[in-house]
Amino acid sequence: MTSQHTVLLVGGTGRTGGRVLQQLLERGVAVRAIVRSASRLPADVAGRPGLTVIEADLLALNDADLLRHARGCDAVISCLGHTISLKGIMGSPHYLVAGAVERLCHAIRESRPEVPVKFILMSSVSVNRSGGLDTYRGAFDRFFMWVLRGLVPPARDNQRAADILQGIGTGDPFVQWVAVRPDTLLEDEVTEYSLHEGLVSTLFKPDSTNMGNVAHFMCELATDQAVWDDWAGKLPVIINASTIGE
Ligand SMILES: NC(=O)c1ccc[n+]([C@@H]2O[C@H](COP(=O)([O-])OP(=O)(O)OC[C@H]3O[C@@H](n4cnc5c(N)ncnc54)[C@H](OP(=O)(O)O)[C@@H]3O)[C@@H](O)[C@H]2O)c1
Repeated sequence: MTSQHTVLLVGGTGRTGGRVLQQLLERGVAVRAIVRSASRLPADVAGRPGLTVIEADLLALNDADLLRHARGCDAVISCLGHTISLKGIMGSPHYLVAGAVERLCHAIRESRPEVPVKFILMSSVSVNRSGGLDTYRGAFDRFFMWVLRGLVPPARDNQRAADILQGIGTGDPFVQWVAVRPDTLLEDEVTEYSLHEGLVSTLFKPDSTNMGNVAHFMCELATDQAVWDDWAGKLPVIINASTIGE
């Protein structure tokens, strides 16, 4: 099975990103994956037709090379995240996700695509929509997140990354975007899930989201124009259907 799509993927060696990669290849999508080490990719993707692996440090890649990798892609997916260790959380780069969003959006713009490129960011329910639109979050949750962003670099990074996209808005001729907000991640595969424009639970009574479901929705966004049209310029919250109302 082949499709007309080409996706540039960053974070493809991660737990969610690996699932995105597998699901894209199953759909016949051509994937360019920028990874620090190809040996960390899921074992069953090596040598698969349609996959191009670029071994490089994304934040150190020069502009010309990044532009070359971005040119001709109709979607870019970021599943980057800070390694869960003291060094990964508190060490540099503090702005891994936001830095990648900034560089990739710049490369997309430089490539001057005829049709806007779809930028799909793996974000988090800890991230707020601008303009106070996430009314479900009460004053205590908001205060807690404000403190967390002050103390924990990844929380600040995720908000900054989403703010860069929200700053682009919806009328850009070269970049359109969706920031997907999962709740507590589970290392499980695709099940039924639901999508919401705003938050549906508090930080202290969280829902769950399978990584497989995040990957499935990201692949739908990249390959189904109707799904894209529903969510472009938004920060959908994705949660497992089975957790609703628990
Ligand atoms: N944990 C949760 O419950 C939860 C909930 C909602 C949202 N999120 C967000 O979801 C995102 C992804 O989560 P995940 O668990 O799927 O991620 P993960 O398994 O930790 O994967 C992280 C990815 O980022 C890459 N990476 C890390 N540091 C890097 C660096 N300095 N330069 C280049 N690449 C780097 C890793 O590459 P290597 O393989 O080379 O290390 C890997 O591909 C994160 O942003 C997280 O904040 C998490």
